[in-house]
Amino acid sequence: MIFETVATGGCRSYVIGCADSCAAALIDPELSQIDRYIALTAKEGLRIRYLIDTHTHADHFSATQQLARRLDVPVVMHRASPAPFVDLRLQSGEMLVVGRLRLQALHTPGHTRDSMCLSVEDRVFTGDTLLIGATGRTDLPSGDAAELHASLFDGLLKLDPALKIFPAHEYKGRSHSTIGQELADNPRLQKRDAGAFIEMMQSLNLTMPTHITEALRTNMSGGKTVAQMLAEAAAIVPFMSLLELNTCLEFRKGELTVLDVREREAYEAGHIPGAQLLPRGQLELRVNEELTDPTRRIVVCCEFGRVSTLATATLRQMGFVCAVALDGGIKAWREAGYPLQPGKQP
Ligand SMILES: [Fe+2]
Repeated sequence: MIFETVATGGCRSYVIGCADSCAAALIDPELSQIDRYIALTAKEGLRIRYLIDTHTHADHFSATQQLARRLDVPVVMHRASPAPFVDLRLQSGEMLVVGRLRLQALHTPGHTRDSMCLSVEDRVFTGDTLLIGATGRTDLPSGDAAELHASLFDGLLKLDPALKIFPAHEYKGRSHSTIGQELADNPRLQKRDAGAFIEMMQSLNLTMPTHITEALRTNMSGGKTVAQMLAEAAAIVPFMSLLELNTCLEFRKGELTVLDVREREAYEAGHIPGAQLLPRGQLELRVNEELTDPTRRIVVCCEFGRVSTLATATLRQMGFVCAVALDGGIKAWREAGYPLQPGKQP
């Protein structure tokens, strides 16, 4: 067995591969680590065959869908997953064959309705059902403390106490634990009576994870995150530095158009001298009147450099082949002490 852990903050993903066949499964991949998973499996000589989410994550962005497109392999989740892009839906007891390895699913609802654990040889991937010294929370959408109690005490914790557990979260840097160790030491498992367990889970008063709305939206639908939208735009546009723009304006002013895509009020409060106003919201509808030469060099700017990246990508898609985005935006321009001019567009 070839085994690797990838930590992203407190989130854990795992690569598990068969040394004989070089087939591997990737469990709970995180969106920002796509290049790492691909590099890691290439280094180990592994080919990813399955992309598995142990449940619908509410606290980070899953990479399964993106990786599935790139690697042409199926996304695997429990049958109860609401995500439409899941290719293979497992039920309790079913197995995935990864070379010589057999990954067996155990449905463990409670943290979410679609939570499952996967056992293989000497270990079990517990998702957020069982963490080291804790359990997953049950107060997020589709969570249920009574179900978690049953999943733990009538299911997962009845497995061999010697089994190693590898959770989807670990915040203290421990690599793993065992079922037996958790039964003995995990404070949440000391309330074995269902009523007491449910009461404890319902009185935890945990803060909501950051990005919960965006994580649930994208993980449940397969839609894109804001960061993905920005990264995809940034990948197809060149950028211009503040210094380069300032030099161009000093010596080659007639050669370029500075396009300010902020709202009118922001433009009138102070814009780069000579800039033309075309708010992002009106870009596609007014572009034919405002920008008549598709070969002209256009430097697009906004306040922070994000909306201008999206606008530049749009312009390039429309055929403005020399559109570039200002790196840093007007805020950086202002802070660097470059000139700004108040007033209406002439
Ligand atoms: Fe979770």
